[in-house]
Amino acid sequence: MPKIFVTRNIPNRGLDLLKSKGYELRVNPEDRVLSKDELVASLKQDAYDAVLCLLTDKIDSEIFNAAGKQCKIFANYAVGFDNVDLKTAQEKAIMITNTPGVLTNTVAEHAFALILSIAHRIAEADRFTRAGKYHGWEPMLLLGHDVSGKTLGIVGLGRIGSRVAHHGALGFEMKVLYYDVKRNEEFEKNISASGGHAEFREHPDDIFHEADYVSIHVPLLPTTKHMVDARVLSLMKKTAYLVNTSRGPIVDEAALVEALRNNVIAGAALDVYENEPALAPGLADLENVILTPHIASATIETRQAMSELAARNIIEALEGRIPPNLVKI
Ligand code: GLV
Ligand code: GLV
Repeated sequence: MPKIFVTRNIPNRGLDLLKSKGYELRVNPEDRVLSKDELVASLKQDAYDAVLCLLTDKIDSEIFNAAGKQCKIFANYAVGFDNVDLKTAQEKAIMITNTPGVLTNTVAEHAFALILSIAHRIAEADRFTRAGKYHGWEPMLLLGHDVSGKTLGIVGLGRIGSRVAHHGALGFEMKVLYYDVKRNEEFEKNISASGGHAEFREHPDDIFHEADYVSIHVPLLPTTKHMVDARVLSLMKKTAYLVNTSRGPIVDEAALVEALRNNVIAGAALDVYENEPALAPGLADLENVILTPHIASATIETRQAMSELAARNIIEALEGRIPPNLVKI
């Protein structure tokens, strides 16, 4: 019977599915990320046919070697796969899969929750109220900004970016500007047909320059690392907000702290960080930021769906078929 190693416990649906197939499962007994050495040692303990890994595991040649030649697949429990060395996986004929689609709505909801929260100063207002500072209604207390009717800039119009654009254009009558490597006229038509408005910009600079809210939805690649740096931040309006639910290193976090401190932009809402779980010095001291701990996909429904999808990818691979979410290099 195939043997599967799971690098950390996840919601049960996929694990139950693998067990129902009669597969033998070994789940890391500690509820924490395994260090590189621990992961290597765990993989060497047995001849696993598949590994279910997380975005917090760095999967490189050392890990593939520890898993051994019989190991056919590493199923990443995430849509992003920047933690996996795809080139080496390909050389070793190991399949890599991810979990796209099932988390799109949830991550888009979180991105929108951040947009609304930073605009309405929700986290700051909550801190204020809890601290006993609320002494009665005031005409000038904690004034924020509207979202409705403003310009929403989407950088990366993939599944998640399109969904955030949809919420903005149709739910809040926002003018949507988007950048992607190519224009998506069908998306624009669909938004227009529903009474909304979306326009393509050929250069991301134009998005940063024109938008009131910029939401980042590109994958982390060598070409997107520090895509948002001091220069790009300086293009933004002083009244604009940056929202990032993609991957931390896309934003130069030290440059962002500087920009927020010097009121180059109005605020930022982040779910991901450049050196997770560490935060750039000074970031947590700022009032005009909202910081969530990489939980954009963290609903019970979605984490169960991700669990099932990761398991289905493993089952397909081990039964000799092409898994549905095979990542192509
Ligand atoms: C979460 O960050 C994911 O990539 O699924
Ligand atoms: C990820 O699922 C994306 O395409 O945005």
